[in-house]
Amino acid sequence: MTEIDSSTDSTSRTSLRHGREMVAIPGPSIIPDEVLEVFARPMPDLYEGPIIETSHDVRRRLPAIARTSGEVFIVTGNGHAAWQMATSNTLNAGDKVLVLEAGRFATVWGEYSAISGIDVEVLPGDDHHPVNPDAVEQRLRDDTAHDIKAILVAHVDTASSVRNDIAALRAAIDASNHPALFMVDCIASMGCERIEMDEWGVDIAIAGCQKGLMVPPGVSFVWVGPKAARAYAQAKDRVGYFDWERRRDTSNEYAYYAGTPPIAHLRGLQVAFDLIDAEGGLDAVWQRHAVLGDAVRAAISAWSVPGGVSFCIAEADARSNCVTTMLTGATEPEPLRSLVRYQAGLIVGLGIAGIDGVRIAHMGHVNPPMLLGTLGTLEAGLVASGAELGASGVAAATQVIARHLQR
Ligand SMILES: Cc1ncc(COP(=O)(O)O)c(C=O)c1O
Repeated sequence: MTEIDSSTDSTSRTSLRHGREMVAIPGPSIIPDEVLEVFARPMPDLYEGPIIETSHDVRRRLPAIARTSGEVFIVTGNGHAAWQMATSNTLNAGDKVLVLEAGRFATVWGEYSAISGIDVEVLPGDDHHPVNPDAVEQRLRDDTAHDIKAILVAHVDTASSVRNDIAALRAAIDASNHPALFMVDCIASMGCERIEMDEWGVDIAIAGCQKGLMVPPGVSFVWVGPKAARAYAQAKDRVGYFDWERRRDTSNEYAYYAGTPPIAHLRGLQVAFDLIDAEGGLDAVWQRHAVLGDAVRAAISAWSVPGGVSFCIAEADARSNCVTTMLTGATEPEPLRSLVRYQAGLIVGLGIAGIDGVRIAHMGHVNPPMLLGTLGTLEAGLVASGAELGASGVAAATQVIARHLQR
């Protein structure tokens, strides 16, 4: 059986979906054809030949992706595996971590850490605002005994679409003179949003390959700054598979991956990095995401009326450039998602973690025709659902794109 999806929703009459489906969920993202092609290549000898150079090349280029001169580990596993690598190499059971709640994912990281015996304290937040740096500073000042060993936060939370201000959080930690490690989940944001690991004083950054980095899911990354590397010496509850020491053997690719390397993913990452370079580097990639993010925000602003669609995130400058969670007001989100999915071939993300809305992804390999198609189809779905709209969101998004087309 293949995965051809011929299912319909109960309301289907005439379906317009039969063309190339547009998957606009916040990861896995759209994979470039150049990356997909290398996944079809046969497997080589893993101990010698060009795959070794591919692995070295990917490892050489990864620090620049997070803007760090520190070391990086590649995990054959998803973002959850990278979370575990980060905490198991730096913390012990019984150590306290402070999870900065804003949306869902930092909290889940905390929940998984708790399974390993880590004492998790959540600094409460909500689904509509970024983490408040003042609250972080106050909590850390109150921790005079320095019980808190690490701070866990998501740069972009994929449930709420909030973007936390990592530089401001670092400043809050510094202002409190607190020594905790600062660990940042950049799983949604890496390759989409500006990330300056060293400049922002991030001790551990984490990403997956399946979002801004444009490679099918299965590999994740842990970038390690010097302070986190030093914390390793105190970590007594290390997990064999994730242990950094064995993976540091630079003469042995098999050891670096703790087993067989993820060969197809390494080839795909090399192509993805070539695509980033061909675009003009990370600054150009971040700029494209900023424009596409502006276009989505222009569309939602135009659609918005009281009681109608609105942003999940209250503060305009805390809305991410890689995913936007839209609350649908009087229109129920799930019938809307079904409508555009089964009748028009557009798959937008479902609301998760109790957030009643839809998530529009604009991460990775996305350009104006893909985005305007997404917004236009969503607008058609809203109109067909009887939603009251302020004005055409597509027209507003088109204006944003037009301003960035240079003649
Ligand atoms: C911000 C964030 N953190 C962590 C995760 C978990 O990553 P994974 O599903 O690869 O384990 C996700 C997944 O969507 C995410 O968006």
